Amino acid sequence: MICLVLTIFAHIFQTGWTGAKERTFIAVKPDGIQRRLVGEIICRFEQKGFKLVGLKLLQAPESVLREHYWDLRGKPFFNGLVCYMGSGPVVAMVWQGVDVVKTCFGMLGEMNPAVCLPGTIRGDYCVEGGRNVIHGSDSVESAQREIPLWFRRHELHSWDHSSSRWI
Ligand code: CDP
Ligand code: MG
Repeated sequence: MICLVLTIFAHIFQTGWTGAKERTFIAVKPDGIQRRLVGEIICRFEQKGFKLVGLKLLQAPESVLREHYWDLRGKPFFNGLVCYMGSGPVVAMVWQGVDVVKTCFGMLGEMNPAVCLPGTIRGDYCVEGGRNVIHGSDSVESAQREIPLWFRRHELHSWDHSSSRWI
């Protein structure tokens, strides 16, 4: 029985999706870049204490965007969303840390600018839901799907923060 539990534990940790190894996908959308918010947004996750393990600037192919927003394919705004996301470069990132998915998603703020709180990224920088500056994975399962869609394995880095004892 103990062996079984240990094997399951080992498997979970090996997959790298739990505890300090949890990862999330964050993207500064084209409007965030146009509005020169990239530095400010990176700063928030960095200062929170998460670890940056992947970062690139790219103009996303339509195929990636359609796949990324597959769940929303039936929505009336879907084509406009894909068009907006492909209208310029995005900054794609992977951040790592304990509960990083939930925490970062909270740091984004609600989709609806009328209700998202000051102090969140959208709460501080958005007035229009369709131009909301940033994307973040909404669950661990979404992060697991999104990260390989945007990043090749060799583009992600494992490294140690010298300050990890303090954060
Ligand atoms: O981005 P988030 O996960 O908070 O919201 P979502 O409901 O998963 O929607 C994904 C994205 O679709 C939003 O961030 C908006 O860019 C866009 N959207 C839109 O343009 N109009 C809507 N009525 C809803 C979403
Ligand atoms: Mg979402």
